[in-house]
Amino acid sequence: MFYLKYRPKTVAEIDNSRVKETVKKILASKNLPHAFLFVGQKGTGKTSTARIFAKALNCLNKKGLDIEPCNHCVNCLSIASSSYTDVIEMDAASNRGIEEVKSLIKETSFLPMSGRYRVFIIDEAHMITGDGFNALLKTLEEPPETSIFILATTNLEKLPKTIISRCVKVNFGKGLKQDIVSMLKRIGAHENLTYQNDFYSLIAHHSDYSFRDAAKILEEVSMQKIKTVDELEAFLGIRGKNNLLEIIEKKDSKKTFVWIEEFSQNGGNFKNLIEDILEELRIHLLIKKGVNLEDEKTTTLTVPEISRLIKLLMESYQLLRSTPIESLPLELALVEFYNGINSKVKN
Ligand SMILES: Nc1ncnc2c1ncn2[C@@H]1O[C@H](COP(=O)(O)OP(=O)(O)OP(=O)(O)O)[C@@H](O)[C@H]1O
Ligand SMILES: [Mg+2]
Ligand SMILES: [Zn+2]
Repeated sequence: MFYLKYRPKTVAEIDNSRVKETVKKILASKNLPHAFLFVGQKGTGKTSTARIFAKALNCLNKKGLDIEPCNHCVNCLSIASSSYTDVIEMDAASNRGIEEVKSLIKETSFLPMSGRYRVFIIDEAHMITGDGFNALLKTLEEPPETSIFILATTNLEKLPKTIISRCVKVNFGKGLKQDIVSMLKRIGAHENLTYQNDFYSLIAHHSDYSFRDAAKILEEVSMQKIKTVDELEAFLGIRGKNNLLEIIEKKDSKKTFVWIEEFSQNGGNFKNLIEDILEELRIHLLIKKGVNLEDEKTTTLTVPEISRLIKLLMESYQLLRSTPIESLPLELALVEFYNGINSKVKN
């Protein structure tokens, strides 16, 4: 799997530029904080960075002001293979109660076996129960000299303020497009792929701001021997988006639903499709409102129609998460859109 094979192993390999700078500063600082909170969307490098931290702090070959782990001493290697006794990872999604937290805290009373620090990584930290957080609070406030806590979460708002205020926060945010592109290029170079910039940009654009998702797409695409941007577009399900919007503009209800059914049969991605149409509609709206854009698109849809369509599509976008049938939210949105038009005609 590309995303595991190319998981960053050094600070330099963290493609998330803001995080890289923050991590460098932290590792170079004289007074190392003992509790960290890594906040960010899925697949932005929280777990990877936590492991790099653990290695950098316990590497046997680190000298002076070095911040990078060597990645070949016993400590680095055993951390990488998750067999290092002084790095304790807890997945709070499945171990969330007070008992689990208590046994974790007990571990902090032991001295490290072979490194300088015991590093406690708590993934999905927001899942910990209220009691669990209370038990953790005191330890976070005064952690033993040899313990480092790294809490990782995708949901900052679900963490108690008391916990947040005791940690140094590192914001991973969303993956930025240019950072994701540089990761893709790094992988591409190692795998001898010959894709051009626009190919990588298009993948980054469709990766849901996640490095992991982007790496997965690149792997699939290279396995399927997809070579051109055109082929990539078809693979990502973008192909024909203008098509669908053109059909909607003509208010051809039957053609619309036939198109969607075909798109669905061909394994098209509805999330990408809705995103693309929304982007297109927004541009139409801005142009109609007199904003000067390089795009010289025109549409026969009126401003109220565009705004209604945007609202309906945004609702259907939300519904994608819970729908048992992927095409249904879009179909429903368009049924409502056409109903609105017809009732107006009648009145
Ligand atoms: N900043 C990054 N630079 C390069 N690759 C990255 C970066 N972040 C993530 N990746 C890629 O995505 C994969 C997943 O990253 P990681 O597990 O660290 O993310 P995470 O933030 O912990 O995600 P989750 O919230 O889903 O646990 C890595 O194996 C790596 O391939
Ligand atoms: Mg993780
Ligand atoms: Zn090392």
